Order: sequence, then structure tokens, then C-alpha cells
Amino acid sequence: MLDGLKRLEYRGYDSSGLIVATNKGFEQVKRTGRVVNLEEALDELQYGGNLGISHTRWATHGDVTEANAHPHTSSDGKISLVHNGVIENYVGMKQFLEKKGYTFQSETDSEALSNLIAYHYAKEGRASGKNPFLEAVRKSLRHVEGTYGIAVVCPDFPLELIGARKGSPLIIGIGKDENLIASDVNAITHCTQNVVYLNDNEVVHMTNADFSITTVSSKNVEAVIHKVDWDTSAAELGDYSHFMEKEIFEQPVSLQNGMRGRFSDDSSTAVFGGLNLNSQELRQIDRILFLACGTAWHACLVAEYLIERFARIPVEVEYASEFRYRNAPLDKNTLVIAISQSGETIDTLGALREAKRKGYRTLAINNSVGSTIARESDGGIYQHAGPEIGVASTKAFTSQIMICAMLALYLGRLRDLSYEDGIQIVKALRGVPEQVGQILQQNEAIAAVAKKYAKYEDCLFLGRQLMFPIALEGALKLKEISYIHAEGYPAAEMKHGPIALICENCPSVFLATSGEIFQKSLANVQEVKARKGKVICIATEGCEIPDNLVDDIIRVPECHEIVKPILMSIPIQLFSYHVALERGCDVDKPRNLAKSVTVE
Ligand code: M6R
Repeated sequence: MLDGLKRLEYRGYDSSGLIVATNKGFEQVKRTGRVVNLEEALDELQYGGNLGISHTRWATHGDVTEANAHPHTSSDGKISLVHNGVIENYVGMKQFLEKKGYTFQSETDSEALSNLIAYHYAKEGRASGKNPFLEAVRKSLRHVEGTYGIAVVCPDFPLELIGARKGSPLIIGIGKDENLIASDVNAITHCTQNVVYLNDNEVVHMTNADFSITTVSSKNVEAVIHKVDWDTSAAELGDYSHFMEKEIFEQPVSLQNGMRGRFSDDSSTAVFGGLNLNSQELRQIDRILFLACGTAWHACLVAEYLIERFARIPVEVEYASEFRYRNAPLDKNTLVIAISQSGETIDTLGALREAKRKGYRTLAINNSVGSTIARESDGGIYQHAGPEIGVASTKAFTSQIMICAMLALYLGRLRDLSYEDGIQIVKALRGVPEQVGQILQQNEAIAAVAKKYAKYEDCLFLGRQLMFPIALEGALKLKEISYIHAEGYPAAEMKHGPIALICENCPSVFLATSGEIFQKSLANVQEVKARKGKVICIATEGCEIPDNLVDDIIRVPECHEIVKPILMSIPIQLFSYHVALERGCDVDKPRNLAKSVTVE
């Protein structure tokens, strides 16, 4: 379980705990802080057993305390559970249970569910001939409003484990003489590669030898076993200091993997296997709506530029969390595309479901094979970037852009994009891994630049057109891992307000690429310099930048328009990484964040 928790620590890391069925009964340990604190406590306690549940927490209800850490045990000691998600009606549940004599030790919503299961378990008795533990779990879940991925144990059934999900992911791992439940395949790929993806409102009951799935309303469900063919070492640090560093340096390979087998024989277009839409249907699409959160939302903004430019299809981009409650009118020929690295982000999943409910065709661009978003969309494109563990998304972002560039090419070639343009684009995309490798060789030079700017508390990222989303991503990367206040703006928009921030202590990172807009970008740099702002310029080779106009310059190779967003992303990732290191921040586990956000 500790191995699994460490592999899952990127999902939450403010406290952790576990409960084990030992030969002296169920023993529980919780610690605040990282999983290593739990490990140290366990080294002393020397617990051993064959069944248990464990959890690493990202706080939703209540402070980071041992009392609020999971597992949560009912006040009669009969039920312990770990829970991801939010029980929305827990206040009413708690009031009801308090009247029945149950007491509460924590401020969490999860404890209400453990007491509710205990209440039903006490009522159930053994008379019915059914398993009272399983019956109690199912009955309780029928009363839950909100989301859950749970694992539950009961000391009266020390060989049995129950799991259930609604809204939060849960998978079953089928091992040799052992069975497992986890909220992410990463947690168990070192034990087994055979998994079953549980669907919403399903409950699994298992022993080490067997398992069965039913719905919350007690209907039998047939399990479909999938093989996860991930290289387990891909989720390990190897010789790198941080996952973020490892994943930045993996980009030549992750980008190559995203392209593998996806170009036509004549190298003039892309080909995708899983769209589940034929060419004729795709030609009828007259609008595309992209939905995502965070970094994936920035990839959508890049997609907007690329698809409008190369395929001439109008594109809109919405924050998934806004779209799902906005009831936006959509045209019937709208294709909805959700982008999500994890495939489990609850806001993106909710928005996708809302689009499906309204009858729109949906696709997902996703990095996690078998994730909920991948399974629930009508078709999709896997990124094949390999597991991303660092909380700050890096290789997943560039791979999402790569997929969107290929999609722009594919849709363009189904319409007006010429054969010759297609050939040029494929050539440019194929050259990306090598060019990214060249930029990565500047790591030390970029680290030296980062060192100079790590002391500032504010920073602007400015770029025009295709560089605007990269500016947003640069600001997000810097703020999430170094806690520097950073903002991304279209460079020309700066003079409508943010220019007030410019001073000696607020540096600006300019993203300038060759092309018709370059001189205008340069004019924006002048505006910053005129106000004593320090300027770091990331520019493509060949952009002529007058001496003394910028304080530091980082160059990326000259390239086709379509690949600029990928190449320009690499320096901002390295810059943020080194600034955060310089400030002594925990790069892979920044404060308050979690890798996949499975609560609204
Ligand atoms: O797994 P997803 O791509 O759906 O995640 C979306 C965001 O939570 C994620 O990109 C987040 O913004 C990252 N921390 C950014 O580095």
C-alpha cells in the first residue's frame, strides 16, 4: 500500500493514512505531511496484514490534521473507508446520524459516509442471508448526493474489501492471489497490468481470490478486463531530480510517440484511428468547441488558432467548469472536443457529459488510456506521452499541441489545405523532436537566466497571436511551482492596464517569433523598456533584436508556424523549473495543488 501511495502522491499530499487487518484486529495510522511521514510511523509500528485501505489526501473539507486524514472509521468501529470526491449532502446526513447516536471526530464529509454505512450495517443484521456489509454499502450509497470513489473495510469481514464509484475514478487490479482497488492505474501497475474500469454507480466486492461487480441498485455487472501495457519504469524518477525535469527532457520522445503511425503514406496529412467519424461527417462540422481546464485549456487556445488558420473551421474554447453550467446554445453541426491529460478532471468530465446529453458528437484528446473521459467520449485521440507525474504539466501540454496541430492538418486537408501545404506541415512536425532536443541543450544557459530573475515577486508573460496561449502557460507554470505572481497577456493588450505593473522589480518574458507580427511585438518590448522593465526575450532564430533592447535572450530554431507553440514552450518550462529550484520550492508537489482535480 505504501508503494501505491507513493505512486499516487501526486494526486494529493497534505496527509495520509491506512488501516490494516492485522492478527490483532484492524490497526490504523495517520500522519500529516508527505507519505514518507506515514512510512516512518509504520517502520516503528511494524504492522502486517493481508487486507487494508490507504489514502493520500488533498483537503476539501477541513484543515490538514490527523483527524481529517483518511481512513475514517465510524464511531461504532464497524466501518472504515477512504474517499475521493465530495459528499454534498453530508451536513444533513451528519445531523441524522448524530440523532441516532453516532459521533464525529473530523470536519470531513467522508466521515459522514462511514457512519452512514455503519448505521445501515447495524440495521441490516445477518438474517436476510445476504452479505450485510455489501448491503449496507449499497443502501448508503443510494442516499449520497455528490461524488465518490471509495474503498471500505469492516472488521467483521477481515478478508473482504468493497469499492464503489460515482464521479471519481476507481479501477480494479486483478493480481495473482491478490486483488486491488485504486483511483489510478499508476498505483498498481507494479502489481498487475490487468484492470477493470469501474463505471459510475457500480460497486465491487472482493477477496484476494475473487471479485464481483453490481450496481448500487444490486444488478449484476459483467466485468471487462483490460491490459495496461505501460512500462512501469516510465512512472519512476530514474536519474532525474524531479519528475518535472524528467518530463521536460522526455519531450523529444513523447512528441515522437504522439506522431507514430499517424501520417498518410504520401506524407501530406495526418491519420487517426479512433475518431469514429468518417470524412464526410467531418466535412459537415461547421464549428468546434474545445473544453478543458488549466494547461489543457491553453492547449485548446493553441488549437483555436491552428484549426481556424489551417482548416478554416470556426473554433471556440470554453473553461469546462463554466460551460457545464452555462447552458450555451450550440449549433447542431458543432463537434465538441475535450482535452485532458488525466482524463479524470471532474469539470472537464462534467462538461463532456453535458455536451453529450445535448446530443453533440464528442471527441477526447487524452493521455490516460482507459480514463473516464476517454471511455465516455464518442471517439478520441490518445496522446501517448507516457505517464505524467509532475503536478506542473509539461510533456502533456506539448503533446496536446502536437495532436491539435495534426488535427488541424487533417481537417484542413479534408477541406481547402493544399497537398503542398500538407507536405510542408508534415515535414515541420516530423522535425519537432530534434528541434526540441536542440532547445533542451540550452538547459544550463536557461538556468543561468532563471537564477537572475528568481528574486522577483511579479512577472509578466507577453506574446501575440499563437504566442498568447504560450504566454498564459508560461505564467501558469511559473506561478504554480515558484509562487511568483505571474500574468500572461497578449503583448499589445498590456498597454490597456497591466503596463501599470511594469517597473524595475517586475520583469517581462516576451515571446517573439518571426513573421508579420514580429515588428509589432518589438514595439511592445520598447514600451516595457521605456518604463524600466527588465525583459527576457524568447525568440526564434533570425528575429533581429536591436542591441540593448532586451536584458536576456533565449533562442529557439526557426520553424514552420504550426510548430512554434511547441518549440517556444520548452524555454518557459525550463525557466519556471529553474526559478522554482532557485527559490527552494518543491517542484513536483507545489503547495495546495493536486495532479488530477477530481472535485468540482
Ligand atoms: O488532467 P487535465 O489535463 O484535465 O488537468 C487539467 C489541469 O488541472 C492541469 O492542466 C493543471 O492546470 C496543471 N497543474 C497545470 O500544470
